[in-house]
Amino acid sequence: MYGYQVIFLLIIAILNSDYSLFIAADPTPPVWPVAFQETFNETSTLPVVGTSSNIQGTYYYDYEQKSVRIDRTTGKYDRYCSSVKYFQDTPCTHLVVNGLRYLVFPKLNSCCMCCTAEDGCGMLKPDWLSDATFIGYNTTTPVKYQVWDKKGLQDNFYWQVDATQIPYIIDQQPNDLMIFDVTSFKKGSIDPSIFALPSYCSKDHKCPLLSVCTIAR
Ligand SMILES: *[C@@H]1O[C@H](CO)[C@@H](O)[C@H](O)[C@H]1NC(C)=O
Ligand SMILES: *[C@@H]1O[C@H](CO)[C@@H](O)[C@H](O)[C@H]1NC(C)=O
Repeated sequence: MYGYQVIFLLIIAILNSDYSLFIAADPTPPVWPVAFQETFNETSTLPVVGTSSNIQGTYYYDYEQKSVRIDRTTGKYDRYCSSVKYFQDTPCTHLVVNGLRYLVFPKLNSCCMCCTAEDGCGMLKPDWLSDATFIGYNTTTPVKYQVWDKKGLQDNFYWQVDATQIPYIIDQQPNDLMIFDVTSFKKGSIDPSIFALPSYCSKDHKCPLLSVCTIAR
């Protein structure tokens, strides 16, 4: 007695599935895991200082702890670190904890508080790419990547592995390219000791007046 309706539904289903062969919807915008860590290589240019394509680093991200730590083998090409230590070739860490961004120079036992979340110096939210534009897939290598653009003053291209959604590239045009090692990606909460403020840091010790931090503040 329902035969007619069943055939009708089948036809609809077949039409729908055929249709989807021709129109592939864009993927949904990337959402970062609540917590992860991943190493990266970076090419960065700072006016006057120059370019380095040999910067290594590690990104620790934990939105539940509201903490971020970005280690770099040198701060020389980072506009914040460089403006505090005047172009010195020394490791530099951005550490965001309790809504404050610190610049830490572990080899120098030196640290200063740069700027606050209210100044716009906080951490990215997991959905920071929700309004990004899908550029397309890159299939130049056997790994298929999604390429997104999060417009700021310039293009900020973001790549992730299509199959696993692991972050691959943050390309802040025209002067900062971070290429992540997707095999180093670890999802899951970060040991709080990673975000511990070194003893030589204090929120009352602000970065120098003649640093980029002052502009941010
Ligand atoms: C994919 O990425 C490679 C390497 O970055 C680039 O040379 C190529 O032009 C890209 N392909 C497309 C279709 O964007
Ligand atoms: C990152 O740079 C190091 C040192 O130059 C190199 O050995 C390594 O292969 C690079 N990793 C990636 C993922 O490109």
